[in-house]
Amino acid sequence: MVERLHLALKEVVDESYDILVGYGLLDRIPSDLKENPIGNKYAIITDSSIRGLYGERLLEGFREEGVSACLIDFPAGEGSKSLDMVGYLVGRLLREGVDRKSAIIALGGGVVGDLSGFVASVYMRGIPYIQVPTTLLSQVDSSIGGKTGVDTVDGKNLIGSFYQPKRVYIDPSLLESLPEREFISGLSEVVKYGVICDRSLFDYLESNVERIKRRDREALFHIIRASCIIKKRIVEEDPREENKRAILNYGHTPAHALERLSGYKCPHGEAVSVGMRISGWVAVRLGFWSVDEWARQNRLLEMFGLPLKMEFSVDDLIRALYYDKKIEGGKIMFVLPRRIGEMASINGRYKIPISEDDLRRFLVEIRGMD
Ligand SMILES: NC(=O)c1ccc[n+]([C@@H]2O[C@H](COP(=O)([O-])OP(=O)(O)OC[C@H]3O[C@@H](n4cnc5c(N)ncnc54)[C@H](O)[C@@H]3O)[C@@H](O)[C@H]2O)c1
Ligand SMILES: [Zn+2]
Repeated sequence: MVERLHLALKEVVDESYDILVGYGLLDRIPSDLKENPIGNKYAIITDSSIRGLYGERLLEGFREEGVSACLIDFPAGEGSKSLDMVGYLVGRLLREGVDRKSAIIALGGGVVGDLSGFVASVYMRGIPYIQVPTTLLSQVDSSIGGKTGVDTVDGKNLIGSFYQPKRVYIDPSLLESLPEREFISGLSEVVKYGVICDRSLFDYLESNVERIKRRDREALFHIIRASCIIKKRIVEEDPREENKRAILNYGHTPAHALERLSGYKCPHGEAVSVGMRISGWVAVRLGFWSVDEWARQNRLLEMFGLPLKMEFSVDDLIRALYYDKKIEGGKIMFVLPRRIGEMASINGRYKIPISEDDLRRFLVEIRGMD
C-alpha cells in the first residue's frame, strides 16, 4: 500500500525593497528606521576596521533616537567569511538578546555584507537585514541582489543562500576613508557594467577618469547610481541567476581562478580587471567581439590604474577553473561581450561553453602578448 499525500505549497512572495543613494545617508539611518521600522531592535554587524570609523557613530545615532541597537564586530578580511565566524556571530547575537523581531544591519564591504546576510538568513530560521555598504565594490555590486555566503577551504562562496535585504542605504561619503587600492579595485565592477549593458556609462567613464579617481562627489554619485540601476534591473529580471544574471559575472570566470591561485591575496576587483581582458580576448577569438572594442576596454581599465596582467601558468589557471561553479558538463562557461553595452547569447543563453582546448590556446596567445 502506498498512500500519496500531496503537500501543496506555491508561495508567491514580494521581496521588493528600496535602495537609497545619497551623501550623508549614514547619519539619517536611525531616524529613517524609526519612521519606517524593519525590526524592533537592530544588531549592527561590522568589521574591526569599520567599527571605529562608522560603527560607533551609527550606534550613537540609534541611541540618540531612542532606538534599541547593539554593535558586533569581527576581524576585517576575507578570512572571516567562514562558517566558524557564522557560529561566532550567532553566539554574539544570542547574548545581545537579538530575536526574531530584530533586524541585522550589515555595515561594511562585501565581506561584512555576504557574511551578515548569510547569518541573517539562518539565524532563528531567518531574520530581516539591511545593507549599509562602505566600499565601492559593495556600493555598486554586492549589497544589491541578495547573494549571501561564506567560503570554505575548498573555495569561495561555496555555502550560501539567496536572501534579499529589506533596504539598502548607500552613502558615497563613506568612500572618503577607503584606501586607494580598494577604491580602484571597485572601479573594475563599474567598467564591467559599462561593457555588459550600458554604453553611455562606458562613455562617461572614459570622459571622466580623472574626476572619478579624485572621488569627485558628483562623478561618484553618477557612477554609483548608474551601476545600482543596472544591477537592480538584472536582478529583477533573473533573481536566481537562471540565465541573464550570469552576465554580471563577466570576467569573473578567470578572475575567480586567479584569486584562488593568489591564495585570495589579490583584491577581487584587480582579478576582475585581468579577467575582463582574458574573457574579452576569448570573445574576440570566437568572433563575438571586435579587437578594437576589446582594446578600448583594456585602455579604460589601465587609465583607472587597474592591472591587465597577472603572473600565472596556463595549466594552473585551467586547474583552478575546475574548482569554480562555472563548469557545466565538463565545459568552462563564459559570458562574452558582442559590443560595448551588450552581451552575446546563443539560442537566448548568455553562458557560453568553451572547450578546454580552445581556452588553453587563447590563454597561451594572451600570455604571448604580455
Ligand atoms: N554578494 C555579492 O553579490 C558579491 C558580489 C561581489 C563580491 N562579493 C564579495 O565581496 C567581498 C569583497 O568585498 P570588498 O571588496 O568590499 O572587501 P572587504 O569587505 O574585505 O573590504 C575591504 C577592506 O576595506 C576596509 N573598509 C571597508 N570600508 C571602508 C571604508 N569606508 N573606509 C576604510 N576602510 C574600509 C575593510 O575593513 C576591509 O579591510 C568578497 O568576499 C566577494 O566574494 C559579493
Ligand atoms: Zn565581482
